[in-house]
Amino acid sequence: MWMAKRRGRRLLPVAVLVLGLSAVDVLAQDNPDVETGRVLAEENCARCHAIGMDGESPHEEAPPFRDVVQQWPPAHLAEALAEGIVVGHPEMPQFTFSESEIDALIAYLESLVGS
Ligand code: HEC
Repeated sequence: MWMAKRRGRRLLPVAVLVLGLSAVDVLAQDNPDVETGRVLAEENCARCHAIGMDGESPHEEAPPFRDVVQQWPPAHLAEALAEGIVVGHPEMPQFTFSESEIDALIAYLESLVGS
């Protein structure tokens, strides 16, 4: 599904429906570790994505995370992360994160929203 949405957004409603279910779990975490998430993003994502509030992505096609979170509520990304993100990442290694790592990453991404 995540690969399929890579071009065009027509699968979005399905994605939101399915991912929305897991969003409940993620939001129920009341002690998310934003700093751990930031470190994870730095280690795994920052070589392509701009992960902070400013700066350009090192990889020109990789959207800065501050833009990604405007488009995708971070909780909706949790499922994709759990599955090992394949979101149109041609050159990207497939990631497999543990649940607590995902919670941390999501918490970090959420910290970018609206700030
Ligand atoms: C090797 C480079 C590379 C790394 C490392 C990387 N990405 Fe990406 N990512 C990309 C590129 C390039 C795109 C855009 C793909 C496209 O649109 O065709 C992308 C797109 C995305 C998208 C999709 C945005 C959208 O609107 O569809 C998400 C979400 C994402 N990356 C999350 C992550 C996360 C989380 C990490 C770290 C765990 C990460 N990426 C690491 C290169 C990378």
